[in-house]
Amino acid sequence: MAALADLLMGPFADAVLHTAKFPPAGDSQLVVLDQACGSGVVSSHIMSHLSPDDRSRLDLTCADISEPAIAQMEKRIENSGWSNARAVTNDAMETPFPANHFTHIFFNFGPQMLPTPLAGLKECHRILRQSGILGISSWQKVPWPADYREGIARDSSLPSFPTEEQLRYAFSDTPQRWDTVDEGRAHLEECGFTAIEAAAVENTTSMSVEEVEAMLPFSFDMMVQKFWTKEEVDKFRQPAARAIVDFLKEKYGKGPVVWKWVALVATGRKG
Ligand SMILES: C[S@@+](CC[C@H](N)C(=O)[O-])C[C@H]1O[C@@H](n2cnc3c(N)ncnc32)[C@H](O)[C@@H]1O
Repeated sequence: MAALADLLMGPFADAVLHTAKFPPAGDSQLVVLDQACGSGVVSSHIMSHLSPDDRSRLDLTCADISEPAIAQMEKRIENSGWSNARAVTNDAMETPFPANHFTHIFFNFGPQMLPTPLAGLKECHRILRQSGILGISSWQKVPWPADYREGIARDSSLPSFPTEEQLRYAFSDTPQRWDTVDEGRAHLEECGFTAIEAAAVENTTSMSVEEVEAMLPFSFDMMVQKFWTKEEVDKFRQPAARAIVDFLKEKYGKGPVVWKWVALVATGRKG
């Protein structure tokens, strides 16, 4: 799971860190929050980029709403020997952290997962120190739905797969969109951030069909559980997954599944 998450989200974690110019030169303390940390992609990239000197000035908090993710994260911190790091369960829209605390917050995929994304950004603003930096990313183009949809559509007994619009805003209850760099920039501005840098970043992955199958629980299952009834999920999950895998094998043959991903990557400063 961690390896797959790193394959898909790692390049964007690097882009977020790079855009945030992290770590800053000097010897100031780095009090960092990896918000919505999941399996710890951002934290592991932070750790692998930092020199031993920079590691000694790091205080890292990994936070997520998912208790199983935090339990895994605690093990990862311990097994990796990351000192000055901890994992905390939290809701990004209302965290337990004090105001003016962190020097950096990284929120990689990200705000779009929240029912009210701007509440999450405003909370980041509250808990950042003056001049603290927020780095976010948000999907703009995800490749798997088109292939899943086409595979499922070949069997008319299966329920249809949700539309692009439904999928992209599956978790959000609010009208804000993240489709363009300008929209991302406007959301950061509205939440009080300055010195905003925003860009669309692309990455192309090359995966085996087996790797795509391993991704189904975090893509296909996550979405049909939202848009299909429980009866539909129970009855059609297995045949739909089979239809997707058969389609991928036909479409990509013996070659890898080559997919292009695009994300908005943006940073802003408090004050
Ligand atoms: C797409 S994953 C991204 C994980 C990680 N940041 C990465 O780059 O791999 C989204 C994460 O957001 C978490 N999440 C969803 N809603 C949240 C909330 N309200 N507060 C904190 N985390 C949340 C999920 O549990 C999941 O781990």
